[in-house]
Amino acid sequence: MAERPVLVVDLGGQYSQLIARRVRECGVLSELVSPSVPAAALRARDPVALILSGGPASVYAEGAPRVDAELFALGVPVLGICYGMQLMAQELGGRVDRTGVSEFGRTELHARSGALFAGQPAEQSCWMSHRDSVVAAPAGATVVGGSPSTPIAAFEDEERRLYGVQFHPEVAHTPYGMEVLRNFLFEVSGASPTWTAAAVIDAAIERIRTQVGGERVLCGLSGGVDSAVAALLVHRAVGDQLTCVFVDHGLLRKDEAAQVVRTFRDSFDVPLVHVEAQDRFLARLAGVVDPEEKRRRIGEEFIRVFEAEARALGETSHLVQGTLYSDVIESGGDGVAATIKSHHNVGGLPADMAMTLVEPLRLLFKDEVRRVGAELGLPEAMVWRQPFPGPGLAIRIIGEVTEGRLAILREADAILQEEVRRAGLYRELWQSFTVLPAIRSVGVQGDERTYAYPIVIRAVTSEDAMTADWARLPYDLLETVSSRIINELPEVNRVALDISSKPPATIEWE
Ligand code: XMP
Repeated sequence: MAERPVLVVDLGGQYSQLIARRVRECGVLSELVSPSVPAAALRARDPVALILSGGPASVYAEGAPRVDAELFALGVPVLGICYGMQLMAQELGGRVDRTGVSEFGRTELHARSGALFAGQPAEQSCWMSHRDSVVAAPAGATVVGGSPSTPIAAFEDEERRLYGVQFHPEVAHTPYGMEVLRNFLFEVSGASPTWTAAAVIDAAIERIRTQVGGERVLCGLSGGVDSAVAALLVHRAVGDQLTCVFVDHGLLRKDEAAQVVRTFRDSFDVPLVHVEAQDRFLARLAGVVDPEEKRRRIGEEFIRVFEAEARALGETSHLVQGTLYSDVIESGGDGVAATIKSHHNVGGLPADMAMTLVEPLRLLFKDEVRRVGAELGLPEAMVWRQPFPGPGLAIRIIGEVTEGRLAILREADAILQEEVRRAGLYRELWQSFTVLPAIRSVGVQGDERTYAYPIVIRAVTSEDAMTADWARLPYDLLETVSSRIINELPEVNRVALDISSKPPATIEWE
């Protein structure tokens, strides 16, 4: 039976995606929908509940997002958060005003009564971010919580199952926020926590079987978690109708290529074509120092190799793509085909290949992909791999890419990864890697003067790679990494640390 979703009406708030993720963390499927979707279409999705997100607008502003007021009469429980609460109050005959008092950040909350606050202390703190306030709750609704400057911080109409909170239960700064959501989902709406990794897998398998039928499917593996999980799901669904193609461009990190082959061919018995194209890529990169030119040549060569392999395999009608739910939302997708991000397309779809896309991760956020991967038995190192750019180590060698420099960078990177893992920091960091600027500096080792490469350590924390901060790695970790790199790699005599944030720097050096 299809999962009944909680639909989050996205009113433009910065936390809309987070609301959906939090609901899913409670084990209930949740999806974002646009406010322009009419109530009848919402009902057709058979939602177990609706949540109206926050948003930056004032309900009185021209062009402020509105919802179809009929949705309050569907008999489906509704939770309005922040702007969503204000919109709800206004639509239902309450009043919203700019009281001159704004609240931003941590705020005291007096949770007087009501279903959402059941089992929680009356005095708690919460996260607020608003200028307007509800000054009169709608008829039939009871005020159940207030803050020092916002007397109506929460209301509920138990009979119609309509609830509003001015604060943000979805953010970590609201300590009882998850309790509020859980009360709304399980006590008020009667949802069941059935959205588990195992259920996701079953549903994905069924969908893939329906879509693919008896046709043949092709999947490009990159070594990353998305393509790995997508491939395993498709393999579970249609077995040997799937062929994976792994183009080894020689720009991966130490042991990565071997791990892909070992995992897929040996452990999971997935038909795998391992294309050893290292020499072709190196030849194409000879003499190239311009970053964009490197990317262009790698992308072009990749497609050439992939296409040739695909043709050699004969008639294949479907291509697996690891599109995530966040990509679908970003591209404004609501069931329509997602566009492929252009600069992330190594491993993607050759432009002129007429194939139908199979996108088994289309409904999943990244953390869910990892959970599904773990449930499918993917090795821990693949499940938790940090993001890695398609052009690989080529954009971490500043200057021409040569076999010798690749070997040095690969070893330096392996040392860093090993020590970061040993320090227990690997999962906390968005990325940690080394860069080899192809310049030399003078050093001294024993009685000898050296003239060798530097290695730069780059480690960042980030939520989404749009912005990033340099990670404050412990000094003793840096010391170990530095001395190991210099001692173990005769071609390196200096280690530097990149302490730039993004912006103005980028995460990668090229
Ligand atoms: P920048 O360097 O722009 O990187 O701050 C942001 C994130 O994107 C990754 N990245 C890529 N990923 N193909 C990819 O699949 C690429 O060409 C590419 N370039 C950068 C980078 O590692 C970081 O996580």
